[in-house]
This record gives sequence, structure tokens and C-alpha cells, in this order.
Amino acid sequence: MYSKEFEEIVHLRRSNRVFDANIEVPDEVIRKGLELALLSPNSSNMQLWEFHWIKSKTELEKYVPLCLNQRAAKTAKQLVVFITRRDKWRERAKWNLGKVQDSIVGEPSRLQKSSLNYYGKLMPLIYSNDPFGFMTLVRKSISFFMGFRKPFYRAGGLAKQRIVVHKSCALAAQTFMLSIAAEGFDSCPLEGFDELRVKKALGLPRGAEICMIVAVGKGTEEGIYGPRFRVPKEEVIFVR
Ligand SMILES: Cc1cc2nc3c(=O)[nH]c(=O)nc-3n(C[C@H](O)[C@H](O)[C@H](O)COP(=O)(O)O)c2cc1C
Repeated sequence: MYSKEFEEIVHLRRSNRVFDANIEVPDEVIRKGLELALLSPNSSNMQLWEFHWIKSKTELEKYVPLCLNQRAAKTAKQLVVFITRRDKWRERAKWNLGKVQDSIVGEPSRLQKSSLNYYGKLMPLIYSNDPFGFMTLVRKSISFFMGFRKPFYRAGGLAKQRIVVHKSCALAAQTFMLSIAAEGFDSCPLEGFDELRVKKALGLPRGAEICMIVAVGKGTEEGIYGPRFRVPKEEVIFVR
């Protein structure tokens, strides 16, 4: 039904690196984009993400050098920092568990029982860590033995956990950027920044990581560095 509109928005979204100095982005545009980003698919609905909206002029100026003086950051009217919060897994597993518990009236259904197990037992197994890597060994051993004869989820250590949270957070960033395009504004995702200093500026703890920073404004022609090109689809789309 909306396929044409969707296609248009996907084509419309370009990484624009020079934003119009005279056109402000209404707060409502950012607010809406962030609220839609919350609806992005995310691993186990753990929502291990945070979106930090940098909107005041003085705050924005602070982030220009931290984004390595990139033009997109220099000319941005608003910035949103997409952050992963692997460290909040306990809180979020508990929150999900509470949601399941609240939905139970009388005897829990099979689905409710399995959800209680999922958030009460499986999430702690997947996300907990210790200084000696004992939990990683446990997870890898379980995956190895259980997966020996039949397909089984390949759990891992810190690297795997980080991949999981970054995947979900990047999907949220994409929802946000598509929403910005749908509202007639432009964006540029950035990974060219000093992560250490950005984390410090935002006062984030060790367990938080920056997925990407999205610069927002009204794009200009100058901000489009060239026509959009992609490798031939035959090289990346495989039908089996
Ligand atoms: C995770 C990520 C990080 C990026 N980092 C930067 C960046 O630091 N600076 C920049 O100018 N563009 C950056 N880009 C934008 C890409 O260069 C751009 O998406 C790509 O060239 C395709 O162009 P399009 O977005 O207009 O389709 C980044 C894109 C992604 C997805």
C-alpha cells in the first residue's frame, strides 16, 4: 500500500555533509524520529541503546572537534549520538520479565512460561561476564555440545555481545534517518569521531559504546559529494 512512498524515502535519504546555515530543524522532527527509532527491531527486545540528542548551540560546538571537524558536524543543526548500553542488560531483562509477569492472569500459558525463562534465565546466561572469562567458556561449551548434532545458537563472549547490541542500535539509527528524510530534512551518519572523548563529554560509563553519531540539518547541493553508486547487485545479492 505504501510501497511507493517507502521507495521514495529510501531514494531521498542521502548522506549530506553540508547543511543550510539558515534553516533550522524543528525539535518536533527530531523528537518524532527518535520515538520512531524506539520501534526498531532489536535483539530480544532488550533495547540496550540510548539516543543522546545534542541540540543547544554551545553543546553542538563542543562536538565539532570531537567529530574531527567534519563538515557534516560543523554545519549540523542537531546531532544525535546513538549509544549501545550492553551494561544495562540486567535492568532491561528485569523490565521485560516484569512485563511478562504483569501479563499473567491465573496459570501462565506456555508462551508466558517460556518468556519467563527467556528473561529470567537465558538473558543472564547470554549477557553475564566475569573477569576470568568463565562465563564465555560456559557459553561456548554449551553451544559446542548442544550444537554438535543439531542447529543451536552460537553464544560467545564480549565480542559477540558487542556485535548484538551494535546491530540493534544501527537499526535504530537507520529508522531515525529515514524518518528525518520523510520529514524533508537530511542527515549524515558519522563514525569518524573520537569515541573516547565523545564518551567523556557525555559522561558515559565504560560499558557504553558509541554506535554512530547522526548529523541533521537541511541538506544542500554542495553537501552531496556525487551521484549515488553501488557495486553491481549481482555481486551482493545472491538467490539460492
Ligand atoms: C556507520 C556509518 C559511518 C559513517 N561515517 C561517516 C563519516 O564519518 N563521515 C562521512 O562523511 N560519512 C560517513 N558515512 C556515510 C557514508 O559514507 C555513506 O552512507 C555512503 O557513502 C553511502 O552514501 P549515501 O548514504 O548517500 O547513500 C557513514 C555511514 C555509516 C553507515
